[in-house]
Amino acid sequence: MPKNFIIAIDGYSSCGKSTIAKALAKHLNFIYVDSGAMYRAATLYFLRNNIDWHDHDVVIEALKDIHVELHLENDYTQVLLNDEDVSEEIRKMPVSNNVSKVSTIKEIRKAMVKLQQKMGKTKNIVMDGRDIGTTVFPDAQLKVFMTAQPLIRAERRYKELKAKGEELTVREVLDNLKERDHEDTTREESPLRKADDAIILDNSHMTPDQQLEFVVNLYKNLQDRN
Ligand code: DC
Repeated sequence: MPKNFIIAIDGYSSCGKSTIAKALAKHLNFIYVDSGAMYRAATLYFLRNNIDWHDHDVVIEALKDIHVELHLENDYTQVLLNDEDVSEEIRKMPVSNNVSKVSTIKEIRKAMVKLQQKMGKTKNIVMDGRDIGTTVFPDAQLKVFMTAQPLIRAERRYKELKAKGEELTVREVLDNLKERDHEDTTREESPLRKADDAIILDNSHMTPDQQLEFVVNLYKNLQDRN
């Protein structure tokens, strides 16, 4: 039996990881898993229930009551938190402003990583996140590390948020991004870093189609070699 194929896409916030990961999964007929959505759903639970995530015992107790499920429907990932559809709420600023902090907590990471590894046991998947190539699937056959210039990332994110009716300035979005980059790269537990065998994709000046072509070619080259 051939082993299932895992593609890990890591990188900074708002680099377009999910756009490319989704397109790639569709192109290759793989399953797409948005690992960030899982941290976001957990963050929403902590915020709603006023849980102090600095208190390890409290976190361990709370984790028993957090059940996150991802349902894939065509291009859309529906995120369920204890059976409630929270797909939209987890993208809003209260969660965005706190998720990096929540995802520094060791116990939370442990629970999410376990769930993610389970998802990649038997199926061909494309998973995006921060530690997929380094911690979740260090043996992934293909690893991509995405990056783009901060201002370009902020402008892209600003447009997305504006379309959803959120009132923010580019400056605020940029500040939020920088703060998240700092949290993500300096945290103690599996910080965001490029895996040694990951290939860098700087998409500052690339269209989504060009990015897809770049990654599909990496995949094809690997297939040709085997
Ligand atoms: O990809 P995203 O912006 O939806 O991720 C939300 C947050 O979750 C991000 O600030 C960092 C964290 N995260 C993480 O620590 N590890 C992952 N594998 C995915 C996301």
